Amino acid sequence: MTDQAQTGDTRSNEGAHLDPVLVIGATGRIGRQVVAQLLDAGVPVRALTRRPEAAGLPAAVEVVAGDLTVPASLDVALQGVGAVFLLWTAPPGTAPAVVERLASHTRRVVFLSSPHKTPHPFFQQPNPMARFHADVERLIAATGLASTIIRPGMFASNVRFWWASAIRDGDVVRWPYGSAETAPVDERDVAAVAAHALYEDGHTGGDYVLTGPESLSQADQVSLIGAVLGRTIRFEELSPDEFRRETAGRWPGPVVDMLLAAWGATIGRPALVTTTVSDILGSPPRTFRQWVTDHADAFRAPLASDKSETR
Ligand SMILES: NC(=O)c1ccc[n+]([C@@H]2O[C@H](COP(=O)([O-])OP(=O)(O)OC[C@H]3O[C@@H](n4cnc5c(N)ncnc54)[C@H](OP(=O)(O)O)[C@@H]3O)[C@@H](O)[C@H]2O)c1
Repeated sequence: MTDQAQTGDTRSNEGAHLDPVLVIGATGRIGRQVVAQLLDAGVPVRALTRRPEAAGLPAAVEVVAGDLTVPASLDVALQGVGAVFLLWTAPPGTAPAVVERLASHTRRVVFLSSPHKTPHPFFQQPNPMARFHADVERLIAATGLASTIIRPGMFASNVRFWWASAIRDGDVVRWPYGSAETAPVDERDVAAVAAHALYEDGHTGGDYVLTGPESLSQADQVSLIGAVLGRTIRFEELSPDEFRRETAGRWPGPVVDMLLAAWGATIGRPALVTTTVSDILGSPPRTFRQWVTDHADAFRAPLASDKSETR
């Protein structure tokens, strides 16, 4: 929580600059929602993508080509922007040059990181993603940019990639650590907080750990999906080694290690639940049940767009 969020100061985008906000990662899960929330708030949006022709963004968005692995390719997109939403899934090597470029073109950045500083065992397992996020935060701090760091826990939408195909094809989810509890956060709530930090005053220095409203075991999350679908879905516990074998060749090893370490470390504890989403938005975060209800079709019928992804 920042002081501003605690005191509930009056923040609005009235009179805000009309310079566009550049959304990096605009075609992804979080970025698309950030774009939508900014447009809803009347903020001009410029979207960065490597493939503008495939972006599929609303007509009101100015779509610009750029690639984080080629820092000079960002110069056009950065011309005249008032703020930048930064999300990084690219290889890490060019991060210093990109952050430097951001600082030379804009005043404010909102970075999507993770809760790696949070003293809950789930978030305290060393992993390359956490180290990279910490590096980017240090780079941003060193530039003196006005920044806000957004730290979501597990995205609710991960379960679509993890379990949708098993649930469409049968009644069993085979998965490790059924009793591990997480507090899945809806990507729309993560994006809404990011959007507020981009267009409202009062978020500079904000460091926001975002979770969903309730701690739920993975087995309960599977049951809840079944309840929404009107079916019984069984959770079949895999050992960590069985999970490694099941995902071998399909998922990157470091991702598997990261997930197993986090789930294993949290056994016997409830997930961290923060009030940050409601503190900032003034309304409670969406529940996991709400997320499942809004995405139930993904678990019902085969969808060509569903890939076996690892997030
Ligand atoms: N999953 C979780 O539970 C979780 C929790 C906390 C934090 N996070 C963080 O959330 C982030 C992922 O967000 P997401 O799920 O919204 O991502 P996503 O759906 O995978 O989207 C990735 C986005 O990054 C863009 N991108 C990829 N490589 C790029 C490059 N070289 N240059 C420019 N743009 C590039 C893609 O755009 P184009 O393909 O159009 O170029 C796309 O818009 C990661 O940083 C992850 O660490 C995830």
